[in-house]
Amino acid sequence: MKSSVRIHPSILNADHSKILSEIDRVAKVSDFLHLDILDGKFAPNTSFSWAEAQNIISGSSIPVDAHLMVIDSDVQGPRYAEAGCTSVTVHVESTADIRKTIKNIKSNGARASLALKPASQIETYIDHLDEVDMFLIMTVEPGFGGQSFMPEMMEKVSKTRDLIGERPIWLQVDGGISKETIEIARAAGADTFVAGSAVYKSDNPAAMINTLRTLAEHVQPN
Ligand code: DX5
Ligand code: ZN
Repeated sequence: MKSSVRIHPSILNADHSKILSEIDRVAKVSDFLHLDILDGKFAPNTSFSWAEAQNIISGSSIPVDAHLMVIDSDVQGPRYAEAGCTSVTVHVESTADIRKTIKNIKSNGARASLALKPASQIETYIDHLDEVDMFLIMTVEPGFGGQSFMPEMMEKVSKTRDLIGERPIWLQVDGGISKETIEIARAAGADTFVAGSAVYKSDNPAAMINTLRTLAEHVQPN
């Protein structure tokens, strides 16, 4: 897909009883499928079991971007890479050995990414700038779809963009991305956008993805 931005629909709030057809509704216009894994311990919600996740990973017609919100990231990160995800994101707050886990994700064939909750600061993780393929700056507290976008995270997005410099690292935002907020996040420097309820609550999810992409493409990042 020729575009200056990537749109990753999140299926957290899609209809889980027909998840593969929910993915098919957006596959043609999406870059990756965003798969949120919640264990009920890292954040107060659960999402897909390991069996359900495997079914999604092997059945998805587009590459899978797994976002692990679990307490044992060092074990689960490489496991999701091995299962066939194209990108695996672990949280800095739940990864005991970040360097080793990034290495283990990559050696299992996936892109490796680090996520930061709203209270975590990017400066703490600059040592990993030459190791990661993507940073995910959360724009809500992890756990649920449908929460309000936190504009105060834009300073962190801009800082991260500056730190990335010329490196080919993607910069993802996740939480509350919609027609109303995507341009704000793009202006701050994000290039990869997760959208859950904006997409799946709309009457036409594919059309919504196209709209989000067009809005973001028209913004010149600062
Ligand atoms: C929240 C998840 C998000 C969520 C986004 O913990 O990481 O990916 O599905 O949903 P919206 O776009 O509705 O905020
Ligand atoms: Zn997510």
